[in-house]
Amino acid sequence: MLSFFPAVIELSLHEEIRLNRSSLLYDSGEAELNEVVLAYSGGLDTSVCIPLLRERYGFDRIVTVLVDVGQPQSDVERGNKRAELLADEHITIDAREEFVNDYVFPLIKANGSYEGYVLGTAIARPLIAKKAAEIAEQKGIKNLAHGCTGRGNDQLRFEAIFRATDCRVIAPMRELDLAREWEIDYAREHGIDVPVTKEKPWSIDENIWSRSMEGGKLEDPYFEPPEEIYGWTERPDAGRKPEVVEIDFAAGVPVSLDGVPMGGLKLIERLNRIGGAHGVGRTDMIEDRVLGLKARENYEHPAATILITAHKDLEHLVLSRAQLRFKVMVDEAWSELAYKGLVEDPLYDDLMAFLNQSQKRVNGSVRMKLYCGAAMPVGRQSPDALYDQDMVSFDSGTLSQKDAEGFAKYHGFQARLLKRKGR
Ligand code: ARG
Repeated sequence: MLSFFPAVIELSLHEEIRLNRSSLLYDSGEAELNEVVLAYSGGLDTSVCIPLLRERYGFDRIVTVLVDVGQPQSDVERGNKRAELLADEHITIDAREEFVNDYVFPLIKANGSYEGYVLGTAIARPLIAKKAAEIAEQKGIKNLAHGCTGRGNDQLRFEAIFRATDCRVIAPMRELDLAREWEIDYAREHGIDVPVTKEKPWSIDENIWSRSMEGGKLEDPYFEPPEEIYGWTERPDAGRKPEVVEIDFAAGVPVSLDGVPMGGLKLIERLNRIGGAHGVGRTDMIEDRVLGLKARENYEHPAATILITAHKDLEHLVLSRAQLRFKVMVDEAWSELAYKGLVEDPLYDDLMAFLNQSQKRVNGSVRMKLYCGAAMPVGRQSPDALYDQDMVSFDSGTLSQKDAEGFAKYHGFQARLLKRKGR
């Protein structure tokens, strides 16, 4: 097998983990202090990375960077606590506002989705990677590590950013090819408490916009997910009364909820709670990862479903037919780049230029009814509407219907021509 890493060492389950220097995976050579910045979530994989980076790679100093993109506060706190214990230096960055303004808002403009679900995990990765790279740059550290496996998309998204620096990229999970059980044992040996049990081994990725659940029994695509995997949404059939929310958009992004002006972060938090209570925004699907692997994926994203549905509805009120037809292609191209984490590709900026221009008239409000897992537009209005009630109305005489007759005569013209020729 071809390996791009010089010395991949197989680890057996209970192998002695302290190795002498000659067997280290990474040798800094002459460097005085062998330092690395690790993009750290506080979860099992990245926590296990810390002692691995010390013991298997020989790093003397490990700086962990935890980026808050709206995951639960308890995850951030757990990460901080574990890092205090395991790392040499730990930095937490609150990037929630930046995440909403620079990643979620562009996604709303592009109705960003992949194979039918609203993108979530994908758009947070470049930001997390950039923050880690910035810390490395500030501290003059030349090694960047992440805890992604070699099976998923996240390795690609992190490295699309990491490899644009002059740092060496370290991916212990991928390079060591570790099994989850080994990790759990190794973690426990290093004083990392592991609440993941063998029956509930969900791997959860969460940010303000979306929550993703993978692993364990969910890997059987025929297995129906138990209610317990959901953290944001009630059962869609919980039997609550319908509820209507009104969202105002300005230049394609949400600016107020039920008439109250609100920053994006707060608005999304509120809508997650309101929509979650109605079971809005659950996805259970088979997804094609970038590598080509098919994976069973479960998501919940109430605010995202409500906002994207409302946004698309408003676009139909204000954009021309030609704009709408063309924009579907732009949205698709944007989503493809976002899914792959290629936000630095020059095409990304080109697409954003189109999106920003097209959104200038996407102003107005949409009333959304939330009920039994559905988010349905039930009313919309805009000062920029192309819709004209007077022209389209059954009750109006503004347009002379007779004028359409000539148009109708030529509609389907060629088909009739052929028919007449008996062909
Ligand atoms: N498959 C999704 C993606 O690539 C989500 C992965 C999230 N990771 C997780 N451990 N739940 O965007």
